[in-house]
Amino acid sequence: MSETIGVVGAGTMGNGIAQVAARAGCDVVIRDVQDDFLQRGLKTIDKSLQRDVDKERLSTEEKHGILGKIKATTELSALSGCSVVIEAVTENLEVKTDVFRALDQITQPTTILASNTSSISITKLGAATRRPDKVIGMHFMNPVPVMKLVEVIRGIATSDETYERVRSLSDKLGKTALDCQDSPGFVSNRVLMPMINEAIFALYEGVATRESIDGIMKLGMNHPMGPLTLADFIGLDVCLAIMNVLHEGLGDPKYRACPLLKRYVDAGWLGRKSGRGFYEY
Ligand code: 3HC
Repeated sequence: MSETIGVVGAGTMGNGIAQVAARAGCDVVIRDVQDDFLQRGLKTIDKSLQRDVDKERLSTEEKHGILGKIKATTELSALSGCSVVIEAVTENLEVKTDVFRALDQITQPTTILASNTSSISITKLGAATRRPDKVIGMHFMNPVPVMKLVEVIRGIATSDETYERVRSLSDKLGKTALDCQDSPGFVSNRVLMPMINEAIFALYEGVATRESIDGIMKLGMNHPMGPLTLADFIGLDVCLAIMNVLHEGLGDPKYRACPLLKRYVDAGWLGRKSGRGFYEY
């Protein structure tokens, strides 16, 4: 019998995780609070798989088979039979804590509860449940179908067994799991976000144009995207939230968010998803 993976949240990360899990042969239950969020998520999965159909790496039949493995629902209770549930809701401690508390109530005691958080403490999320030994971070990267990494974060109480199960699930999904301790921003965002923030400071201080800053990092460092383009891709609200977690959690002024980043978020210029960020879309 194939494993059933639950995904909470059908946004960018949630639908990507659902796609790779279904493609790896898992049954998937994806839950969001509104049907239109689910429909948008399923449409994104369809489009992403279609790229591979167009490139003749996947047949239309296989695509339908993968889509058929994904059950979309607005009922949290539909996740009760999952062996692992991966939470990918908005990056907000209160919202995530509520989801973990609810998942703890409705899933089997053996179910692993993983969070795709980009910076929130796994130890805190574990403390919201009666099974902190089965709570762990599985931090996927955007776009999930393309990026190879899963950053695996162990909370203070996460058991070795949970860690091993998540490592082998990551292998099954075709990802490479690399582990780190539960520290603000983990490794990925502790290193990436200050670079992006510094690029925003360079723009703010008029050191160079957006095109120059991005071009210098793309051509000079062989990055696939310049830092301002990447910030727009990630979402400026997400970047700001992560900088705030680093600043508060590590207490060092070097992590203060650039005023320009704050101003853009205040204006609702959130990057690609809102049609405007450092670039216009
Ligand atoms: N679904 C499926 N496949 C996709 C895809 C998607 N959403 N987006 C791109 N692809 C595939 C394309 O089909 C193509 O496949 P192929 O080379 O096998 O034919 C390949 O990816 C490359 O895509 P493109 O040619 O369209 O475009 P690029 O070469 O510019 O690549 C990119 C796009 C993969 C997004 C690349 O620009 C990149 O790697 N950017 C950096 C991404 C990054 O840094 N992500 C991490 C963000 S941080 C994060 O997620 C953590 C969070 O906590 C903030």
